[in-house]
Amino acid sequence: MTPFPPIPAERLPALLRAMPKAELHMHIEGSLEPELIFALAQRNGVSIPYASVDELRRAYAFTNLQSFLDIYYAGASVLLKEQDFYDMAWAYLLRAQADNVLHSEMFFDPQTHTARGVSMETVVNGLHRACTDAKEKLGVSAALILCFLRHLSEEEAFATLEQALPYRDRFIGVGLDSSEVGHPPEKFARVFARCRELGFRLVAHAGEEGPPAFVWTALDVLKVERVDHGVQSTRDALLMQRLAQDRIPLTVCPLSNLKLCVFPTLAQHNLGALLDAGLVATVNSDDPAYFGGYLNENFVQTFAATGLQAQHAYTLARNSFEASFIDAQLRRRMTDRLDEFVLGA
Ligand code: ADE
Ligand code: ZN
Repeated sequence: MTPFPPIPAERLPALLRAMPKAELHMHIEGSLEPELIFALAQRNGVSIPYASVDELRRAYAFTNLQSFLDIYYAGASVLLKEQDFYDMAWAYLLRAQADNVLHSEMFFDPQTHTARGVSMETVVNGLHRACTDAKEKLGVSAALILCFLRHLSEEEAFATLEQALPYRDRFIGVGLDSSEVGHPPEKFARVFARCRELGFRLVAHAGEEGPPAFVWTALDVLKVERVDHGVQSTRDALLMQRLAQDRIPLTVCPLSNLKLCVFPTLAQHNLGALLDAGLVATVNSDDPAYFGGYLNENFVQTFAATGLQAQHAYTLARNSFEASFIDAQLRRRMTDRLDEFVLGA
């Protein structure tokens, strides 16, 4: 592995920003900035219970995951037309390009939209068109992962899968998100088994607020290839061994964890401990419009607070390519770009 040469502390933020990287845990509905929420509300004649952008932003004071999800689902209510989904994804992809993201795997929550009468076709086509344009016009590779909302039923997840199958070439995998506590992964065992038969890549949120037991069942029952968050895993030594041995990636989201009070301060975040234990940890933004920063902000603030060094940055970027669902050739090309960047640093 190419080591980063030691660099003075004041050069670290610029290096983190310029480093080629992949983002693997970002909910596209969580990239809706208050300004865009207001613009889409006006364009679509949807009323929202906030008088101004500032008032909406002031409501972003969360105490836990549920307090965030309530506002996040309300924000998504302004999305009605294919162009709305395109505009939202395009705005994120421009930010990704500016953060030197070479590849992004973006979650979307179709049930949030189909429940309001928006068709699956509208959602998927708008997002997919933005992904296609990103490749052509921005040089950013982008793919979609459909997430099932875990607070809803297995039956509703199956119905969503049925609705999505006509567009199966437009998303690469499925995930599981929303309220974790009270909704263990095994609730969706049969849905994930079916998705596996269909050839989808599998991921799930586990161990964000929920216990290490949920990470175990995400692995052993759902058979996920990657765990989203997973930061509670450090509470279970055997689980840490399993994650390290099987090189199961964790898509860690430091600013999200801070804003949702998973850790009291960024300095107390366990990203360094996960790396020290040999886990394939990655850094991601989760819901950047709500948590105070896109991918580079997550890197810069976390490194400043925890004292992680250039060598950790290299490991995290390399992990992001290893953990992604791109093909071997593209992975090689992206990892080579990272190595060239290091040699020039
Ligand atoms: N949906 C959007 N962000 C989420 C998160 N951090 N955890 C669970 N579900 C989510
Ligand atoms: Zn998430």
